[in-house]
Amino acid sequence: MSSPATLDAILSLSKRKGFVYQSSEIYGGLNGCWDFGPLGVELLRNIKDSWWKAMTYRSDIVGIDSSILMHPRVWEASGHVGQFSDPMIDNKTSKSRHRADNLIEDFITRLRNKGKSEQADGVEHALASANSNEDLHAIIISNCIPDPISGTTDWTEVRNFNLMFETHVGPVADAANVVYLRPETAQGIFVNFKNVMESARMKPPFGIAQIGKSFRNEINTKNFLFRTREFEQMEMQFFVKPGTENEWFEYWRTARWNWFTESLGIDAAKLHRKPHEKLAHYAAAAEDIEYHFPFGWGEIEGIHSRTDFDLGRHQEFSGKKLEYVDTASKDRFTPYVIETAVGATRTFMAVLCDAYREEILPTDDGGSETRSLLKLKPSIAPITAAVLPLVNKDGMPEAAHSIVSNLERWFRVDYDTSGAIGRRYRRQDEVGTPFCITVDGQTISDSTVTLRERDTMQQDRIHVDALAGEIQHRMLQ
Ligand code: GAP
Repeated sequence: MSSPATLDAILSLSKRKGFVYQSSEIYGGLNGCWDFGPLGVELLRNIKDSWWKAMTYRSDIVGIDSSILMHPRVWEASGHVGQFSDPMIDNKTSKSRHRADNLIEDFITRLRNKGKSEQADGVEHALASANSNEDLHAIIISNCIPDPISGTTDWTEVRNFNLMFETHVGPVADAANVVYLRPETAQGIFVNFKNVMESARMKPPFGIAQIGKSFRNEINTKNFLFRTREFEQMEMQFFVKPGTENEWFEYWRTARWNWFTESLGIDAAKLHRKPHEKLAHYAAAAEDIEYHFPFGWGEIEGIHSRTDFDLGRHQEFSGKKLEYVDTASKDRFTPYVIETAVGATRTFMAVLCDAYREEILPTDDGGSETRSLLKLKPSIAPITAAVLPLVNKDGMPEAAHSIVSNLERWFRVDYDTSGAIGRRYRRQDEVGTPFCITVDGQTISDSTVTLRERDTMQQDRIHVDALAGEIQHRMLQ
């Protein structure tokens, strides 16, 4: 029997075991920012490596690593200066600020919880057809939606609030030297399109991939790593000949879904596709892949068919041609783009939630015990194998150390001597270590150990010389 993850259970495990800590915790924390601990950094790195391999270990995609600070005109061309904003409303009594659409959504949820489904349907319909800040304001006022803090309906108008963090280059902080912390990694790819195409001798269809930090001054930073102010993205822009974008969009929809299920081992029943109902004016198609988090469905990746909008805007704003010219046929075009944009840190949270289990197991005395485990795909687990000498004497620690140094050439290995063997197995289960190797009296006489699998708890006797190959083999299954 196993129970599903709650957000509290994930938060508690994260802190207790060193996956994720609150940023600047000893100073009371900084909202919307998190630090990855020793196990978290390994898991995050493994997720990023898996994506990097899936996206760039192929001849038609290359990677880059562009700077976080970019020329401010980039963000004018991309539309972020003018349009990257959320509709905000302030409560005059509590002075709290809310995203107007979220305030309405939370109100709809409360109505449904109270069984007022007819009213909830009405408000939901009004929200779906709202086209302006005035429409959002009207919904809040006409439904007397109260401020969750003060309980009053003492609201300001709805205003737009830009989500980009602003800073300045050089010592003088004035409007002439404003720069932004990038809110997405994609623009670093677009502005390097020509550099990459020419220096790496790429021809459409080809892609450019990048992993890196992005920053958004999100108003509501709820739900742990789901919506944070500093996060990591893994984005790929695939440049194609106009007219071929639909087939490539289909290709990437399938490829990206398969990465979640096959490479990360996420349960397909907890994933779904959500096509965008309202498309941006330049978009030909767009779809999100959502994961069923403990708080409900949430986007983890967007796949967008973006026409030549981005390259076209950068041509207009920079005055530089961003075209592909076929030297033989003299064919020339501005490529269309299929974008795959996934959050590394948000995926990390989906992976943790998906892997978390609490199993009730029978004990020898007829009772039961709870086993917490992370059923992570072995290839992304922070620790691949733990080597556990049964006792701290009789040559066992020496034999165990020799196994550790052999396995460390290929895998991340832990060595643990403290406590009863059962407790040590539980500690490794809880952090998702797929294999435990126990060194016992027999190891000293015949060089065999037991290899225990996390999920089945089954143990097999294996010769130490065969261990690395056996682990490798099981990781590929
Ligand atoms: N270039 C397109 C783009 O950035 P997006 O849908 O805004 O698209 C892509 O972001 C992905 O980045 C999202 O699906 C999500 O996984 C992640 N993401 C976006 N905002 C985030 C935030 N505030 N915190 C954590 N992850 C975020």
